[in-house]
Amino acid sequence: MPFLTSSKHTKLMNKFKRYTVTAALPYANGPVHIGHLAGCYLPADIYVRYLRSKGEDVKFICGSDEHGVPITIKAKKEGITPQQVVDKYHKIMGDAFKEFGISFDIYSRTSAKVHHETASEFFKTLYDKGVFKEEITEQYFDEKANQFLADRYIVGTCPKCGNDNAYGDQCENCGSTLNATDLINPRSTLSGEKPVMKKTKNWFLPLDTMQPKIEAYIDSHKDWKTNVFGQCKSWLNSGLQPRAMTRDLDWGVKVPIEGAEGKVLYVWFDAPIGYISATKELFENQGKKQDWELYWKDKETKLVHFIGKDNIVFHCIIFPAMLMAEGSYILPENVPANEFLNLEGNKISTSRNWAVWLHEYLLEFNDKQDALRYTLCANAPETKDNDFTWKDFQAKNNNELVAILGNFINRTLVLTHKYYNGKVPVALEYTKADILLLEEITKFPSKIASSIEQYRFREALGELMNLARLGNKYLADSEPWILIKTDEKRVQTIMNLSLQIVANLTVLMEPFLPFTSKKLGAMININKDLKWNDATRTDLLLAGHQINPSGLLFEKIEDETVDEQVLKLKNSKMINEAESSKTEILLNDENAGIPIINPAKADISFDDFNKMDIRVGTILEAERVPKTDKLMKLLIDTGIDQRIVVSGIAAYYKPEDIIGQKVSILVNLAPRKIKNIESQGMILMAENSNGELSFVVPGKSSVDNGANIK
Ligand code: 2FM
Ligand code: ZN
Repeated sequence: MPFLTSSKHTKLMNKFKRYTVTAALPYANGPVHIGHLAGCYLPADIYVRYLRSKGEDVKFICGSDEHGVPITIKAKKEGITPQQVVDKYHKIMGDAFKEFGISFDIYSRTSAKVHHETASEFFKTLYDKGVFKEEITEQYFDEKANQFLADRYIVGTCPKCGNDNAYGDQCENCGSTLNATDLINPRSTLSGEKPVMKKTKNWFLPLDTMQPKIEAYIDSHKDWKTNVFGQCKSWLNSGLQPRAMTRDLDWGVKVPIEGAEGKVLYVWFDAPIGYISATKELFENQGKKQDWELYWKDKETKLVHFIGKDNIVFHCIIFPAMLMAEGSYILPENVPANEFLNLEGNKISTSRNWAVWLHEYLLEFNDKQDALRYTLCANAPETKDNDFTWKDFQAKNNNELVAILGNFINRTLVLTHKYYNGKVPVALEYTKADILLLEEITKFPSKIASSIEQYRFREALGELMNLARLGNKYLADSEPWILIKTDEKRVQTIMNLSLQIVANLTVLMEPFLPFTSKKLGAMININKDLKWNDATRTDLLLAGHQINPSGLLFEKIEDETVDEQVLKLKNSKMINEAESSKTEILLNDENAGIPIINPAKADISFDDFNKMDIRVGTILEAERVPKTDKLMKLLIDTGIDQRIVVSGIAAYYKPEDIIGQKVSILVNLAPRKIKNIESQGMILMAENSNGELSFVVPGKSSVDNGANIK
């Protein structure tokens, strides 16, 4: 039987011989959430998997960013050393990426020896070339903490947008890069005190004098995403300022020159060099020590940085300036930054537990990584901030993965088993519709490729789904299940073509849905490593080929499951709002803590208040909820009854210590499922500004269970 191949092979990227693709090194100070994944790791992974499928030479580089104030702040908060913080989170993060199929060639870390050496050497080269301006300037100093206040150790009002919580190096509200001395009303995040000025010596990268070169570089990249190019132009238009590349801190890469004792490299100097040191480590591990240079110094290498929008200035201006100053490196060819992903209408926040954590998702959704990858890609914040909602996740899973992609594949495989015992039938004679279909099929690899190469991953995924839609339409139009009674020969051709579409989908879905692609490959029994351009063919499954028993690729997600997730978030919100005893720590994930008194909430009526039935109760039994850090299952005597309540107190209390403890309990809160346990009420807790929880109890121990609190 003849087969068609696409006349337009996707040879869009023949300018480069190899690719170095990086994804932002995440701070090793907390687990990974969906915002991280959608922001840069998932698009980077899709891009790299696609390049590999095209047969390109590509290295995908990442690792933990283990220096800087975000780490030391976390250490302080957890009462452990910075090294303990990074050891703990480096593992958690690396594992989460692996579980979601983020296929780094290496996930390294900036505390590695090779990184300290590489970053020191890089600094030394610039120093020896006389690049830095050495200056004694007045910097903010916290007298109480006896420490200079760099970066996130200091917050204040942003001079550009008025945000009251801008950091010493950056305002996350408007994206401006700042120097600590730019802040209005600065305050120390260590003590909350107003800092004093103190003289200190630092080494500055003279971005001001480098501006023309940087500007020419940016102007040569008008092809960058408009959000990225626009931000760069706006910084350039405001005029670049010299920026200190050293800090008076003790955690980081030591400044490798005399007279710089007690100073470390600025984390944004050392972190991007982490991409280089990780590449070195990768090749060292492979016993090809020198080859790293090809991926960083050869002009035929395309360097692409995937990042979130808060990192644009560092990757588009500061890092390229460092590379230019060093002189022997290639510059980033593209920096496809995404905007932010919100969750159920609110900014994702670690400290407020307003996040979907990857490790928790895995526990609750088992092997449904691809459902999340799909939703995050279909809804990626590529051009503007976007919202993740559980309802949308459910809809995308049920109405697209199950109803379109899964349905087409399942119908095809089930019918093949039913009519032909799983043997691919021969295509006998093509109708006009078949020929049109064959032409359509062969166009998909280049359509999807073109979108991916322009970093339009949502569009690419949409095209992949269009191929499944095409298959569904073909089956619906040709109705093999009816024809089988009258025209079995025709059915052979229909099923052959449908199976070819399934095979092509297996190849083309791999960058987006790698787990499903693997499963499907096993079902249709293709064990050779098919490449992207194989999907331009329409004979991947030859007549007589035996497919394996098939099963469903995707499962419907029920209302109850997503409702539970929404409740879990609402619960976080309630814990934050009701139990935070009117203080809020502005420890926005990586940020320093200054207790701020929350303003009073809006007035409610007495009737509203009266709706709450709060009683005195006693804890009768307590046990930790398995596989969680925070949850405890309590049996409480409420005076009315004995009931189960799940409460987020496990980080502060041991079960054996709280048996007999009097509590205040809201008894008429609608029951909700937490980790599959029905929780019937909520105990009231007061939360200190350091996050410590204590029970809200009656003043006299003689108060009976069941007594009303009003
Ligand atoms: O924003 C962050 O999480 C930084 N740790 C990103 C660093 S990217 C690179 F430069 F290492
Ligand atoms: Zn601002």
